[in-house]
Amino acid sequence: MKGLVMKKLILAVSLAMIAVGAAHAGPPAPKQQGIEGKDYKWNAQEGEKIEALKLKGDKKRGLEAYEVCGACHLPSGAGRPDGTFPQLAGQHTTVLIKQMADIRAGLRDNPTMYPFAATLTDPQELADVSVYIEGLCIPAEHGKYEGKDADKQVAAGKELYEKECKECHGANGEGVKDKFYPVIAGQHYKYLLRQMTEIRDGHRRNANPDMVKIIKKYNNDQLVAISAYQSSLVMPGSMCKAKAPAKKK
Ligand code: HEC
Ligand code: HEC
Repeated sequence: MKGLVMKKLILAVSLAMIAVGAAHAGPPAPKQQGIEGKDYKWNAQEGEKIEALKLKGDKKRGLEAYEVCGACHLPSGAGRPDGTFPQLAGQHTTVLIKQMADIRAGLRDNPTMYPFAATLTDPQELADVSVYIEGLCIPAEHGKYEGKDADKQVAAGKELYEKECKECHGANGEGVKDKFYPVIAGQHYKYLLRQMTEIRDGHRRNANPDMVKIIKKYNNDQLVAISAYQSSLVMPGSMCKAKAPAKKK
């Protein structure tokens, strides 16, 4: 497959550049104003996104397409506990497709991953890789809040979460598939804290305006607490069994 060879080449170069700490070469990502702009319509149903959402994904082809992704997000989809690469396993296909399309369209910055998102131009391939990722079990081991006051932070975060977040992200962090609300369970603390901060400060320009309204009023301490709580969430039935390798359905 020509596309795959090309992607592996990009991958080798990218990983080498990450290793030496160099900025990424190659075409810069486009940039859209998103939530900073006046006419922002969150999750406008247009372009390749609706195409991919309509298609039925194929897990077998998805496994193949996921190969390049696994270099950063790991073959299990677990990402890294230090939060550099998010956990993807078990995420809703709708969320995966929307985030990929937004990164491609310049609504969400991700310079490290952009070259890969940029080559994923085929809506069928996007549907395939998404259905594959959604089918992966969520690893129970992931980056959590590690301070001595963890119990206190988790308790404070729980109070906030249940009041203002549960409605969209669910009591167990399960999100809502057909509304594009992400799964939070199993996500790494440091990634969560980074996303919360970027969304609050307007840097994740594809963010949901209702969520932004809520999170705008939180100070840094509250973001720490709420991230600590989120990283403690467990989604029954979707987590990997202890010690078993990521199962491929
Ligand atoms: C070179 C490393 C790298 C590769 C390869 C890579 N990603 Fe990523 N990906 C990242 C990073 C870094 C982030 C988080 C960026 C941030 O902090 O916003 C990310 C974020 C994401 C997100 C958003 C997750 C969320 O919870 O919102 C999705 C979806 C995603 N990647 C899917 C993929 C898929 C599918 C592939 C393969 C086609 C892939 N990635 C390949 C580095 C990579
Ligand atoms: C109105 C529904 C809604 C509410 C309320 C809401 N969110 Fe969200 N949240 C979303 C959507 C939708 C996204 C994905 C944004 C996008 O389009 O990129 C998101 C993204 C996130 C992310 C990033 C996930 C990832 O994988 O990158 C985190 C973390 C998060 N929300 C936590 C929270 C917390 C904590 C609260 C409460 C303070 C909250 N959300 C309130 C809908 C909501």
